[in-house]
Amino acid sequence: MSNSIESHLVEKRVFKPTREFAKAARIGSLADYRRLYEASIKQPEKFWAAQAGELRWQQKWTKVLEWKPPFAKWFLGGKLNAAENCLDRHLVGPRRNKAAIIWEGEPGEKRTLTYHQLHREVCKFANVLKRNGVKKGDRVLIYMPLIPEAAIAMLACARIGAVHSVVFGGFSSESIKDRLNDSGAQVVVTADGGYRRGQTVTLKQNVDHALEGNTAVRRVIVFRRANLDIHIEEGRDVWWHREMDYVNATCPPAGFDSEHPLFILYTSGSTGKPKGILHTTGGYLTSAHTTTKFIFDLREDDVYWCTADVGWITGHSYLVYGPLANGATCVMYEGAPNWPEPDRFWEIIANYGVTILYTAPTAIRAFIKWGDEHPAKHDLTSLRLLGTVGEPINPEAWMWFRDKIGGGRCPIVDTWWQTETGAIMIAPLPGATPTKPGTATLPFFGIDAAIVDDQGREVGPNEGGKLVVRKPWPSMLRTIFGDKARYKKTYWSEVKGCYFTGDGARRDKDGYFWIVGRIDDVLNVAGHRLGTAEVESALVSHPSVAEAAVVGRPDEIKGQGVVAFVTLREGEIPTNDLKEKLRKHVGHAIGPIAKPDEIRFADALPKTRSGKIMRRLLKELAGGGSVTGDTTTLEDLGVLAKLVKRDE
Ligand code: WTA
Repeated sequence: MSNSIESHLVEKRVFKPTREFAKAARIGSLADYRRLYEASIKQPEKFWAAQAGELRWQQKWTKVLEWKPPFAKWFLGGKLNAAENCLDRHLVGPRRNKAAIIWEGEPGEKRTLTYHQLHREVCKFANVLKRNGVKKGDRVLIYMPLIPEAAIAMLACARIGAVHSVVFGGFSSESIKDRLNDSGAQVVVTADGGYRRGQTVTLKQNVDHALEGNTAVRRVIVFRRANLDIHIEEGRDVWWHREMDYVNATCPPAGFDSEHPLFILYTSGSTGKPKGILHTTGGYLTSAHTTTKFIFDLREDDVYWCTADVGWITGHSYLVYGPLANGATCVMYEGAPNWPEPDRFWEIIANYGVTILYTAPTAIRAFIKWGDEHPAKHDLTSLRLLGTVGEPINPEAWMWFRDKIGGGRCPIVDTWWQTETGAIMIAPLPGATPTKPGTATLPFFGIDAAIVDDQGREVGPNEGGKLVVRKPWPSMLRTIFGDKARYKKTYWSEVKGCYFTGDGARRDKDGYFWIVGRIDDVLNVAGHRLGTAEVESALVSHPSVAEAAVVGRPDEIKGQGVVAFVTLREGEIPTNDLKEKLRKHVGHAIGPIAKPDEIRFADALPKTRSGKIMRRLLKELAGGGSVTGDTTTLEDLGVLAKLVKRDE
């Protein structure tokens, strides 16, 4: 019997870039993409060197790549400063007074920082870090709300060669503690609090808890954001605004080795200890800059909004480093999409004339659930390009995004990548690639992505297998901080000679990549291996369904039975009759093999804090057991408690 993952869902809709879009785009036809892609894969070093050459280097590299599998070094001998590339080089010419960050707080405050102003703040805060003893190579933990100071702190670290490790502001004291221990950070940058869904989040208090008994951290720098009454530990804690009074705005950017560490970002392993993904300077910045330029096809007058928090890799690469290295105007919004009303995003787009919106499938599904009347209230005609990242997007959610947000006019770039890859790896080029709902389409220049079977052989069209990358790329993670053995085992031991992504995928006859789900989540029903994404997408294509997660549970006859957890659109009534209809619907869309054995309605699904559905927990629940696995990355424990209760 074949071990490959089967695929049954057929998607026939294809959307070609419009002529106007293609005409104005950097890459304006599929033929151009293919030609450049072929060349870039034949000579990746040549392609990446040309791209790196668009950055400002204080000293040019002598060697493009040193590849001692699985360890890569890019642009050896080169020296550069990431903050200089994001700021200083825009200070000559008209970009000097261009908005770099347009920020809006959840309660409604508005601030704009031009490149000149952002540069000044970064230089000053870099001097604050120096004043507080931070040196090149030191780790600095950043735990902030989504305010300009979060980006300022990151860029200030980069400016002096300190290594930032941003911890998402929604994480708990426990998470901060683990990450402090693992990274060995001695300085923390935080705020008294932040705003989320009308409530204040007590950031400084969480830091205080995390620091109980910790003697390694010698300095906590606190930005005043929410006017909370907080504890200040004499000798350890200082106020951001007071420190800024002691310093001037002169901080020349030193050049650092291309392979100097830029940041560590922790990503939850599916089990156990989080992994400190290490990225370095020259390669990372090259990929972030290049992908932003081509995939968002940035223009000088774009108003670009990436809705991710700086606590995630998307916030690092596409809210801070990628767009600022390109001299873009970036919108940054602190709060929840449904505060005070479910139309907050659409109001922001209309207010600032946002032209590019980059968001996540989880948000899109929430918007669908909340109802079409919210986007319909606002003028969204400024938008010209849409993007998604984070999960496979269900084709019906993609269609909704295209019609209701993009007005049927904007191309959608569905971008596949990971914390580990540092930058987008598979995505359409908006002026060149015909798109189909649900696929990230084709690999980016220089990226040798493939789908292989358990023996590492490339599989044929529409056969599912493991998604791997066969050649190193500049923004590839360099290691797991402090754990080379785990780095080798996790990413380089599964398929010989290849980087293993952990995702299952197939390529269709046009070579497009369809992510079918995480390999660990693949279902095995009567000898058929099915990815989770197709069954979920079939459910979401039913007009009553907002969101779905499917998992396997042990079944004596079939090996595994399919259990689907389903949330309904606002106003839909959960009945047994509907359950039967949904089972039939999946049977029609995919085939009888994928028909769920059981459907369970839920008010919400358990998700990570970055919005990914946690199937692992649902699987334990569906198998009849209680949930024993790690729940520390779960966004809302209440969701799980509710699901368990229904089960009893
Ligand atoms: C999933 C986020 C399908 C995938 C940048 C990957 C996607 C994991 C897509 C990485 C997409 C991300 N289509 N699946 N467009 N984008 N994923 O580290 O499983 O938070 O391996 O990085 O998200 O998640 P991470």
